[in-house]
Amino acid sequence: MKQHHHTSSGPRPITLSLLKGLTLAVAVTVLAGCERPPMESVQHGYRGTGMVQVYNPRTVEAAADKHVVPVAEPQADDSGPKASAVYQNVKVLGDLSVGKFTRVMVAMTSWVAPKEGCVHCHNPANFADDSKYTKVVSRKMIEMTQHINQDWQQHVGSTGVTCYTCHRGQNVPSDIWTKLNPQPYGANFMGDKAGQNEPNPVANLSSLPVDPFTPFLLGNEPIRVNGNTALPSGNRQSIKQAEATYSLMTHISTSLGVNCTYCHNTQSFSNWKGNPPQRLTAWYGIRMARDLNVNYMETLVEAFPAHRKGALGDVAKLNCATCHQGAYKPLNGAPMAQDFTELGGLAKVLAANVPKQ
Ligand code: HEC
Ligand code: HEC
Ligand code: HEC
Ligand code: HEC
Repeated sequence: MKQHHHTSSGPRPITLSLLKGLTLAVAVTVLAGCERPPMESVQHGYRGTGMVQVYNPRTVEAAADKHVVPVAEPQADDSGPKASAVYQNVKVLGDLSVGKFTRVMVAMTSWVAPKEGCVHCHNPANFADDSKYTKVVSRKMIEMTQHINQDWQQHVGSTGVTCYTCHRGQNVPSDIWTKLNPQPYGANFMGDKAGQNEPNPVANLSSLPVDPFTPFLLGNEPIRVNGNTALPSGNRQSIKQAEATYSLMTHISTSLGVNCTYCHNTQSFSNWKGNPPQRLTAWYGIRMARDLNVNYMETLVEAFPAHRKGALGDVAKLNCATCHQGAYKPLNGAPMAQDFTELGGLAKVLAANVPKQ
């Protein structure tokens, strides 16, 4: 009996320590997804609304280098002959003096092809030649940059953008997307899994759809979570729409490095009353991204070589992260475009007089 008692009580401590170990292991696994304190929080809405921004000071510090603006080339002489009078094949920047034109070429090289130099876009034997696709794409990119700075001030204000905002010294911006190749669930299931249930950074590793861009930043689908029919009829559509909406919102939050309460009072996400002005800026941002993807990026489908296109043969497109790269304003709001009025940026003097939208 004694013997039996001994053996039966023997395993107890082992089970306990095993349990403790398991609990610890589970806790470590669960908390591995969390960030280590201390965090910093900043009040963002009226007192009592819980509209607080939470920042991890270490993440902010680690990303600081990414948002530093390169020193602008010295301004060039505006006198002398125009580029169109001197060169053979200038279609966009022809009105600039040769000095200003050259300054833009030098700046573009440092922003997009600092390692490759002029030959990234040019045939060194003939600078007028358009045989490199990078040159053809760049001409469109110049027009796109001018369009952003001149026609989308409701979003970019007088801060504006240059090639650097998106490219950051790289041939291809780090945050781009192409359409998702439909992924059937398998032979026994019908339909497309809509890019769901696969952890992907786009949806912040959640099970939300990983391509909220095709419907909202290329297409013009309503960004809504509420169906307009009672359950259950017609609701399937609105569930899909709601999932895609949450995925887009997750993308927006991570792209800007902010919480949902940066734009919403979370007592009602659909209500605009009492929301911070940033929500309106974001609303314009959605329209701007759509406009740029449809009227600039998609028109380049012939220009891009096959190896630069997506699985469905479409060109790479932009989203909020392409410019913002984790900052509430790209480059933390440094107004670098004002040094490049050639690209549509507003000059310093002008900037002071621009009415606030
Ligand atoms: C990222 C692409 C890119 C890079 C890098 C680049 N260029 Fe250009 N370059 C262009 C584009 C686009 C045009 C046409 C502009 C237009 O149509 O208004 C052009 C046109 C020119 C022309 C006019 C040629 C002609 O006769 O039509 C000259 C000269 C020139 N670039 C010089 C340079 C120099 C010098 C460098 C290096 C310091 C350089 N470019 C780097 C894209 C680039
Ligand atoms: C709003 C963001 C944005 C701005 C501003 C921008 N670009 Fe781009 N650029 C893109 C995207 C998105 C692509 C497509 C990525 C790809 O090539 O797959 C791209 C592609 C390119 C490519 C082709 C890269 C390759 O090898 O496939 C060149 C060259 C280029 N841009 C030059 C420029 C120049 C020059 C400027 C400034 C006049 C500029 N870009 C401004 C977003 C931007
Ligand atoms: C930078 C601003 C911004 C942030 C951050 C943001 N949203 Fe939004 N949200 C918007 C805008 C703008 C709309 C309206 C879009 C439209 O109608 O085009 C919207 C719409 C919504 C809707 C649809 C409401 C309706 O009318 O059905 C929901 C739900 C939503 N957001 C949830 C969230 C969640 C959850 C988060 C955090 C993960 C979040 N949002 C973060 C700006 C933002
Ligand atoms: C072409 C580059 C570009 C793209 C793409 C872009 N933004 Fe912006 N965004 C800017 C610039 C530049 C500013 C700074 C404007 C200013 O200083 O007034 C800004 C400012 C904002 C602000 C205001 C921040 C504040 O605190 O005042 C919000 C919110 C915002 N963007 C949301 C978005 C969302 C959401 C998307 C994607 C749907 C997006 N942006 C896409 C360039 C861009």
